[in-house]
Amino acid sequence: MSNGIYENKILILDFGSQYTQLIARRVREAQVYCEIHPFNLSIEKIKEFTPKGIIMSGGPADVFAKDAPLSDNRILGLGIPVLGICYGMQLMTQVLGGVVGRAETREYGNAMIKILDDSDLFHSFEKERDEKVWMSHGNRIDKVPEGFRAIASNPSSPVAAMADPRRRLFGVQFHPEVAHTPNGLKILNNFLFRICGCKPSWTMESFVKQTVKILQDKIGDERVVCGLSGGVDSTVTAVLLNRAIGDRLICIFVDNGLLRKNESSEVMDLFKDRYNMNINLVDAAELFLTRLKGVTDPEKKRKIIGHDFITIFEKKAKELGNIKFLAQGTLYPDVIESVSFKGPSATIKSHHNVGGLPEKMNMSLVEPLRELFKDEVRLLGRELGLPSELVLRQPFPGPGLAVRVLGEITKERLDILREADAIVIEEIRSAGLYEKVWQSFAVLLPVKTVGVMGDERTYENVIAVRVVDSLDAMTADWTRMPYDVLEKISNRIINSVRGVNRVVYDISSKPPSTIEWE
Ligand code: XMP
Repeated sequence: MSNGIYENKILILDFGSQYTQLIARRVREAQVYCEIHPFNLSIEKIKEFTPKGIIMSGGPADVFAKDAPLSDNRILGLGIPVLGICYGMQLMTQVLGGVVGRAETREYGNAMIKILDDSDLFHSFEKERDEKVWMSHGNRIDKVPEGFRAIASNPSSPVAAMADPRRRLFGVQFHPEVAHTPNGLKILNNFLFRICGCKPSWTMESFVKQTVKILQDKIGDERVVCGLSGGVDSTVTAVLLNRAIGDRLICIFVDNGLLRKNESSEVMDLFKDRYNMNINLVDAAELFLTRLKGVTDPEKKRKIIGHDFITIFEKKAKELGNIKFLAQGTLYPDVIESVSFKGPSATIKSHHNVGGLPEKMNMSLVEPLRELFKDEVRLLGRELGLPSELVLRQPFPGPGLAVRVLGEITKERLDILREADAIVIEEIRSAGLYEKVWQSFAVLLPVKTVGVMGDERTYENVIAVRVVDSLDAMTADWTRMPYDVLEKISNRIINSVRGVNRVVYDISSKPPSTIEWE
């Protein structure tokens, strides 16, 4: 591909750091395309990838450990610039004949280093000035390999950064990718642009242009079917495909009766009225309710919903005749092969997706968002002209309100939750918090409590309000909500939602809790 957005590529070798994904996001924010691969990617694959530079991530392992993760040493001799971060730097040192030792004092957290040298990595940094950085290490470099020199230091890490400008190999003991290293971006940009010679070509505008062309070539005159959920990923997938192949994209929207208030009509309005897209609504609310009758076990609920969705989708798709392609909104974090990305919740809960469908229906997959992080999908949505309420929509679980009506699901209980949830969202929005928090929603508990309304004793339902801050849903913390917003939410729910006489706020973090209650 000539002049393509994939021409300037950085390869990130993952040694298991919790920050690897952050490195990739920083590189992409600098408008350079990059991919994360496991540390032991073969040298042939690396050459095939033709990166302009390689970043070796940090990692929890110790270079002295017997089973320390190692990459092919030859990557340091390819003539491609390499930046080793923390563990990556220590490994580089060891492989090239330097000496790694135990630090006298381990450094975790903020630290100050002195820049010794205006090497390309520290271009436009003031020499001898103290720089604040984020450290997290127990080992240090005692002797740099031949050809290297220390370019930054502090008392506990005499080699806080090192460079061999001739071979274009660099190492930093600290983490330039985290926000706690205020000038970290400058360092990464120096690596990308000065050292590797990358051009900032990764923009969503160029992504759309190139992807539309790729999709047209791949799909030819065939048709594509796409399941819509109302969420950001499937919406952006559909709009992008619609841009590429027009009404040969056929969307199927299954209303399972487990959606939020007005959600179904909003989705239909957007796609039909605004985008004039080819969309089929399947109203399956009754069917799902019948199938979920009497079911209280969370896993069982998820399995039933996943299974029924597939059956309905498959039936509808078959009615449409012979369709060769199935579109899915798979994102990059779902396809990264490294273990450090699979948080515990990925395996603890069986997620609702259309896995298994393509083989079963003999369809080929089209996944136009496969290379994108979530924030890039949002940018792409904006690029495609989607309204910002939609692009900035909070995540919503595939099984919908079924995992937020704890215990048995009935139409009445779903309606109670829908009303309460709409109030939570409305108040969070009017407090200006909707886009600041990760998720905010209501949960209907399977208990009743006593209350008084007027002179009457009541015995009614409890709504729990869950609002969390998170970066990627792998960990989350409960949001410290202003009391007046909580008060308004509680008052409005108790006063206007029939069947609720108590509201509680969830103050659990993940882990050990999860974001959803089921
Ligand atoms: P938990 O509850 O595991 O949720 O902390 C993590 C994130 O995933 C969302 N979630 C789901 N998303 N299908 C989805 O597509 C599901 O079955 C599902 N379950 C949970 C949840 O809302 C949170 O953002």
